[in-house]
This record gives sequence, structure tokens and C-alpha cells, in this order.
Amino acid sequence: MQRLTNKQIILGITGGIAAYKSAELTRLLKSAGADVRVVMTPSATEFITPLTLQALSGNPVHLHLLNAEAEAGMGHIELAKWADMVLIAPASANFMARLASGQGDDLLTTLCLATEAPICLAPAMNQAMWRDNGTQNNTATLTKRDVKLFGPGVGEQACGDNGPGRMLEPEEIANHAAEQFESGALTGKTVFITAGPTREPLDPVRYISNHSSGKMGYALAEAAIEAGAKVKLISGPVNLPAPARLECISVESAQDMLEAAQTDLALCDIFIAAAAVADYRPTAISEHKIKKGSEEIMELHLVKNPDIVATVAASSPKPFTVGFAAETRDILDYARSKLARKNLDLIIANDVSRSDIGFNSDENAVTVVSHSGAETLPQTSKRKLATLLIDKIAAQYHHKA
Ligand code: PMT
Repeated sequence: MQRLTNKQIILGITGGIAAYKSAELTRLLKSAGADVRVVMTPSATEFITPLTLQALSGNPVHLHLLNAEAEAGMGHIELAKWADMVLIAPASANFMARLASGQGDDLLTTLCLATEAPICLAPAMNQAMWRDNGTQNNTATLTKRDVKLFGPGVGEQACGDNGPGRMLEPEEIANHAAEQFESGALTGKTVFITAGPTREPLDPVRYISNHSSGKMGYALAEAAIEAGAKVKLISGPVNLPAPARLECISVESAQDMLEAAQTDLALCDIFIAAAAVADYRPTAISEHKIKKGSEEIMELHLVKNPDIVATVAASSPKPFTVGFAAETRDILDYARSKLARKNLDLIIANDVSRSDIGFNSDENAVTVVSHSGAETLPQTSKRKLATLLIDKIAAQYHHKA
């Protein structure tokens, strides 16, 4: 749902029992980063209070078309222009009829007439009302006008009937809303992404690892999905849920990660290496727990791990290969030398000496380095940055292709 970050959404609520689910929908849209302004029809307020939605959205709820105070704040035309999307959930049969006939007799219908943003409806009504010819004609009229319909679902209804007309669950509606903002920049492309740390075992209870949380790689995987790609996420051990709609392969060591990266590599169009791979591993793994001895100093013998991204970049056919450079000094110089040495198409440099960006933080700031130049993307959430990075990677990939 990353594409909802910073999106301005009017959530219209009309009168229907499903209005209670709009509270959860507001919460989901907000937690996905959207700015939500709720507009309620008078009958919606019979089912859920404006106060609940004001608290959840963090914004005043808009109720009336002709209200001097509201117009002095954000007037209805300003509100219509502000929106990136008008999402109406639940959309009642009556509301759909009024929208289909082009009426502007309350705030919500007027906003729909005045906005240039996409309008999406999550219908909710009794199954007979949904099947009725009048509703079906209205639905056809609205669809012809490019109004998007999310649902309705089929199943048991509040009135005891069973059939089509149930409002989709809030999570499904939020996912559909996010899909409307997908760029399609990677439609039909296959993207492999490595994420998280690797663990290099010393014995059955100890390992060498690093502070990578996987947040950057997982955010990139979600952004790639939302750009239309088929994604294989190759993840070291992290505490993040696997994003939906992708293949997630869990690995432990660098060697496991290499093996997963090489599987079906011929299908990969773009390879993004966001994982923090251990450069070295112990030469041998002790079968039993290494016991503390009398010596004060203990020596560990390490051997170099395979370089995953360099191996991918050396393969034939070579996917468009993007690396990350995690540096604590001379960031651009080291990034440029890794770009050349590993035969990458792009490298994304980040400063991992800071605690507010880089490893294990929710934000990052990067410089995208190509063979022809460098562009700095200032500090922002990893989710937002990932969307920007995927758009840039897609543009460079298409330029090269
Ligand atoms: O996971 P987070 O907590 O969100 O933190 C994100 C991050 C800081 C881990 C991420 O933004 C990042 O910088 N990832 C790369 C970390 C790293 O190992 O950088 P490096 O400069 O050591 O390696 C350069 C590139 O080679 C990287 O793309 C790395 O994945 C790759 N590499 C390195 C060693 C190796 N054996 N195989 C590799 O593929």
C-alpha cells in the first residue's frame, strides 16, 4: 500500500450498515500514509458518528454543502481540487443513483461533480437492491464514466439475505485504492531483490551478522509490486512480515542467498541487491558449541564469501543490476568504485554511520549513482524512498533497453 503515502483521499460515507467499517478503512488509509478527509451524507451520520471519523482521520469531518464555517476553512471546490482520489465506502444504492443521474444536491455528490480526481465506489446494499435493473443500469452508467467499482462482495448480509451486495472488507478496499496509484512502470518485468542481513554460523548457537533490518529491501519489494513487477524477494533473517503478492525466499547465509539469487536468474530483468551480505564467513562451522577456554584471546579464521551482486552482474544474460553501497566515509568515491568493480548499472549510496538513516531506521537518504552522474534523494521514509527509487530504476532500465 506504499503508493498511498502522501496521497490526499476524500473518504465519502453514505448511509448503510457497512458504515461502521469505514472507521477501520480510515485507520488503514492513514497508516498507509494517506491524508484522509471524511465527507458524510446526513444518513451516514445515523450509522456512525462524525466524531469517531474526526478522531481517526485527524481532520474535521465535512457534512454540509452550505455551511459558511466549513466554506471559510476548506470550501467544497477547494476540497474537490485537493483530492487525489474520491473513495466512497459504503456507496448506497441511493447514492449511486444520484451520482449516475449527475445530481449535486449534497456535499458528496457536488464534490464528485467538481473533482477531476478518480472516483471509486465500494457498493454496499441488499442483494435484491444490487440485482435490481435500476442499480445495474446506474452501475453501467457510472462504469462508462470511468467510475471504478471495488466489489461488491458476495455473502451473508446484515438483513439475513445471502448474495451479492456486501461491502468489501476495509483491507481489500485499501488495497484496491493503492492499486489505482500504481505506475505500471514495471508491468511484465521480473525483479529479484535481496534484503536483510546474512548470518554466518560459527557453531550451533553463534553467528556473525550485522544490523540490517530488511526495511529498505522490503519497501523496494512492495514498490516494485506496485509498479506491476513480478517480484522474488530473497530475504535474510528479519522480523518483517512477507509482503503480499510476491515470492519470498528466506535464507540464512551468503551462500544460501547466492543460491536463491541464481535460481531462475535467466527470468530476472532487474536485480536489486539491498541486502547487507557478510563479506566473510568462518572457515569452519563447529559441530558443537565452542567452549570457553583459558586463553584471553581467541582467533577466528574467516574466508571470503561469494559476492552475490557481482556474480549476478557477470552472468549472461545479465539483468539490469543495481547495488547498494553502505559507507561511513567518502561515500560517493567508494560507491563509484563499487559501481565499476562489480559491473553494476546503478548503485545507491547511503551513509550507515548515522542512526537516523541507513541500518534499522525507518528513514533513509541516498545518492543514486550511475555511469553518467549522481542524484541525491533527501531523507524521507524508506517506503516513500522505495517508490522514488523504483521509478528511477524503471526509467534507467527502459532507457538502457
Ligand atoms: O535493512 P535496513 O535496516 O533497512 O538497512 C538498509 C541497508 C543499509 C542495509 C541498505 O540500504 C544497504 O545499504 N544495503 C547494502 C549493504 C551492503 O552490504 O553494502 P556493501 O557496500 O557492503 O555492498 C555493496 C553491494 O554488494 C550491496 O548491494 C550488497 O548487497 C552487495 N554484496 C556485498 C557483499 C557480498 N558478498 N555480496 C553482495 O551481493
